[in-house]
Amino acid sequence: MHPLRTLILAAGANDAVRRLVATAPVARDVVARFVAGETADQAVTVTRTLVDGGLSVSLDYLGEDTTDRALAEQTVQSYLLLLDRLHAEGLAGHTEVSVKLSAVGQALDERLALDNASRICAAAEQCGTTVTLDMEDHTTTDSTLRVLAEVRRSWPWVGAVLQAYLRRTLDDCVALSGAGSRVRLCKGAYAEPEGVAYADRHEVDLNYVRCANALLSGNGYPMFATHDPRLVSVISERALWYDREPGSYEYQMLYGIRPDEQRRLADSGEAVRVYVPYGEQWYGYLMRRLAERPANTAFFLRSLVGT
Ligand code: FDA
Repeated sequence: MHPLRTLILAAGANDAVRRLVATAPVARDVVARFVAGETADQAVTVTRTLVDGGLSVSLDYLGEDTTDRALAEQTVQSYLLLLDRLHAEGLAGHTEVSVKLSAVGQALDERLALDNASRICAAAEQCGTTVTLDMEDHTTTDSTLRVLAEVRRSWPWVGAVLQAYLRRTLDDCVALSGAGSRVRLCKGAYAEPEGVAYADRHEVDLNYVRCANALLSGNGYPMFATHDPRLVSVISERALWYDREPGSYEYQMLYGIRPDEQRRLADSGEAVRVYVPYGEQWYGYLMRRLAERPANTAFFLRSLVGT
């Protein structure tokens, strides 16, 4: 992993840096590029604009690594409120929610995370929408896939996320490529040891393509989460090869990243979903986005010192 990336991901866990970022007013403007706001109202406003522009949305109420039951409950309540709002606003058909199990109690007790995720899935079903379980660092992969398998017994449409940087992921893609399965394939955003993850970007990209082939040749609904122009063009070529019509798979990108490309793909008839994070706990998310791109980091650091 690039040393700058490792440094920024480490800063993500540093309280002093966190306080500095949270209190610097100009930095908040940079945050707004990647985060829809701190409230459900702001998230709904952004969602409306994207949906009116022909895009679908997955909403993420920010938060992770909760070791407090009350906070986990607060996260569940936030999702329930959000789902109600989406339904009331007539947006549920174009949106879904993304949930991090570590935000709903996974580190405390897998059973608690399963119960909480089930409550969110039940509410999503009532509102006519779906849920995808985000994937976090490799120590949680088995637990997240166990919870996924459990919730899919009642809600078979619950989506999984698989990370191409993990050496295990091709096997997981094959296992989850069956009918009814929804899998978001991304490169992976955490600092992982080399024993479990490919460190070389080229190897990650190669594995992404192998995994994409496994998903496209199966009967599930693949969701390709990447901004990488090379991968987007390889996927569109592979989709043709596997006789996949647009709409039998989708592209996903993050809010604020390559918005022109999101619109270009949608205008060309592809299904495109934008991942929209919101909430007060935006810090860890922001650090992962900065770690992905040195240019973002330089821009952000300049805004912190006010130049
Ligand atoms: P890569 O990082 O190689 O970037 C390719 C190109 O995209 C860059 O050259 C640049 O042009 C553009 N770009 C990428 N990132 C940018 C940025 N931050 N700012 C500006 N331009 C940028 N990860 C995870 O571990 N678990 C998860 O659940 C998810 N969920 C998820 C959902 C969705 C919808 C997306 C798009 C991504 C995720 N991720 C994720 C994050 C993912 O693993 C990965 O870290 C990022 O998408 C960056 O990887 P790319 O595939 O975009 O390629």
